Formats: sequence, C-alpha cells, structure tokens
Amino acid sequence: REGPPTLWGIELKWISLVTLALQNAFLTIIMHYSRISTSPNKTYSAASAVLLNELLKGSISVVIALKRIDNEMNATSAPPPVYYEKGDSKDHARRSSYKLPSLLHPSRLTALSTALFSPDCYKLSVPAILYVIQNNLQYIAASNLDVATFQVTYQMKILTTAFFSVILLRKRLSRAKWAALVMLAIGVGIVQIQSSSAPASSTQSAPSIKANHGEHQLRSQIPGESIMNSERVMHPLQGFLAVTLACLTSGLAGVYFEFILKSSSGSSPPPDLWIRNTQLSLFSLIPALVPIVVSPSGPAGVGYIGRIMMSFSNFNGWAVGTVLTQTLGGLITALVIRYSDNIMKGFATSLSIIISFLASVALFSYPITLSFVVGASIVLGATYLYNSPSLPQSPPTRTAVAV
Ligand code: C5P
Repeated sequence: REGPPTLWGIELKWISLVTLALQNAFLTIIMHYSRISTSPNKTYSAASAVLLNELLKGSISVVIALKRIDNEMNATSAPPPVYYEKGDSKDHARRSSYKLPSLLHPSRLTALSTALFSPDCYKLSVPAILYVIQNNLQYIAASNLDVATFQVTYQMKILTTAFFSVILLRKRLSRAKWAALVMLAIGVGIVQIQSSSAPASSTQSAPSIKANHGEHQLRSQIPGESIMNSERVMHPLQGFLAVTLACLTSGLAGVYFEFILKSSSGSSPPPDLWIRNTQLSLFSLIPALVPIVVSPSGPAGVGYIGRIMMSFSNFNGWAVGTVLTQTLGGLITALVIRYSDNIMKGFATSLSIIISFLASVALFSYPITLSFVVGASIVLGATYLYNSPSLPQSPPTRTAVAV
C-alpha cells in the first residue's frame, strides 16, 4: 500500500504546513511594507498585483499538471517520439525524452485540455471569484492596519471556515471546538480594541493617533525615513471592514475548494490537484481583469491592453516580492487543503502570528502592549484548543451539500 506523499523523507503534509506558517508571516510583513513605503499616488495597483499572482500561479500549475500527465502516460504507454539532432546517440535521445518536446507532444496537450475542460470545471468559478475578491481586500487591509493587528484579526478565518463547514459540508463540531471558536472571537476583539483606541504617543517609534474631523486615523511611523513614507495615513476602520470581508470570502472559498477537491463524481477519481489549480486560475483571470479595465481612474484612450500594461507602472521590487510571496502561498495553500484540510491550515497560519509579531517589533518598532499580548495569547490558546488531539473527535460529516 502506498504511504502518504513525502519529500526528502518527510510527509508533504508537514512540509506544506510549516512552509505556509513561514510564508504567511513573511507575506503580511512584505505586503504592509510594500504598500506604505511609497506616497499614496506612487503606490502600485493592488488589482494588477492580484492579476499577476493569478497569471504566475496558473502558469506554474499548468506546467506541473502537464508534467504529471506526461509521467502518467509514459508509465502506461510508450513515450512519444523524441526529436533529436543528427549525430546524437539513441541513449541521449532516450535521456532527453522527458524534456519539453515530450511535454508539448499533441497527445499530452490533448489529455491536458480534456482534463481542464471537464464537464464540472464550471464549479471552480465560485472559489475563483471569491479568492480574487479576498486577495484585493487583503491589500486594503494591509494598507490600513499594522502588521500584527492585521495578522491577528485575520484569524477570524478560523471562525468563518468552521461556519461554512457546518453550513455547506454539514460538519458537526464538538462543544469544546465551539468554545475554542468563541475564545478566538474574544481574543480578536481584545486586539481590535487596543489598536483602535490606543493613546496618542509622542514617541517616534509608536503608532500615533490623529483626530481628523472626528475620525481617528492611525499614522504609521516607521524608522528609516529615507526609504519609508512615514506620514502615510492609515484608516483602521476601513482596514477592519476589509479584513472581516476577507475572512468571510476566505472561509467560503476554502471550504468550497476543499469540497470540489475531495469529492469524486460518480465512479471516476477526482481530478488532479494541479488541474484544479489551473482551472481556478483560469476562472480568476476575468474577475482579476475587471477592476483594471473598468477603473474610472485608469488612463483614457489607450485601449484594454494599454490599460493593463500601464496598471503595472508603479511596480517596484517590493511589489514583485509581494506578488511572488503570494503566488508561493497560493500553491502551498492548495497542497495543505489537499493533504490536510482547512482547519489545519488555520493552525498553521495562527503560528505565523508569533513569527510576524516578533518581526514587526524588530522591523517597525511596533510597541508591545499588554492588551495585544493578552489578545494574541487568547487567539493562540483558542487555536491550540481547536486543534487539540485530546479533544473528542467531531462526529463525521453526514451528508455534503450537492454542488
Ligand atoms: O487567507 P487564506 O488562507 O484563505 O488565503 C488563501 C490564499 O491562497 C488566497 O490568496 C488564494 O488565492 C490562494 N489559493 C490558491 N490556490 C488554491 C487555494 C487558495 O492560490 N487552490
């Protein structure tokens, strides 16, 4: 019997979970830094970043899907003819049979398009649209909340994931798990209170609050003024709204994607993860393009292609780094959902709170307040309780909703 998939002798499940925790911590920091390091009119377009992320993720997924189709076909039938230079030995030709020409052989491309345009491919349009909305909201949240607050409040994803698992997958949660979820909400609330009512501070290193027409605005004050735009104004309320909506879309999209990935239609096994990922990226392209081509603030008279090209005009190294980190995260998330589940994903991302909190203290001189420590500890305790193996197992899913 085949064991679980491994890499360098370690279960892929654990590698993907640890990598996701590190990636999440790094993404929160780099995304926040990339958004606040320039003046508002020089900031790169979040919609273009989301589009680039989908293009990259889709390209990587399609190459992996093709490679897997090729391996499978080579294992079950003769490899396709290999084109080689005159004078090459047959041995060399055999060795090079796994190179690109083999991958691009018509039989492989036909198998790929049959798998991609399967009768149920339309199902991926739902998580695709939700993820595009979520990815855009994440940029709004990261621009208006400090790193640690964003990271902790984003843990509400665990709550929305549980909610949608109960509603859509008819999962039943034990009482202890519900208690852990309530604890989580309380912890997130405490962190939220401290960041929206923190006293004005005259110290250079602490974030200060400035009253403006009755509205509190949080200013980001970051050391190293030559590279950072320390006067960029953040709107915590807008940030909280964005993060709340991102949690809703994340929960729904994750549960829906898991359902599609793990449910088999009839007697045939569910399609490969990388085929599903490519379908997800293909369906994401249209919603990712819409805000760019219809934006009223976009350049006029340049056509759709011109608008798309010009939307990348403010892209700098930080923007590219953010997109690459997000692309990596999308690929790892898919692996985690495939080899673990959305609940384990929540555990991995809450570990990233500690990592990014410590990093933001070091990088952005974020002040350690008592309420932050209490709130973050409750969030971590709740996450531990939710995932505690000593808890009685939840009754198994009874009937999943028909999709
Ligand atoms: O915050 P959350 O963990 O829900 O974020 C999931 C991220 O992973 C989103 O940015 C989404 O676009 C990405 N993803 C992906 N491919 C999947 C599942 C999720 O790129 N198959």
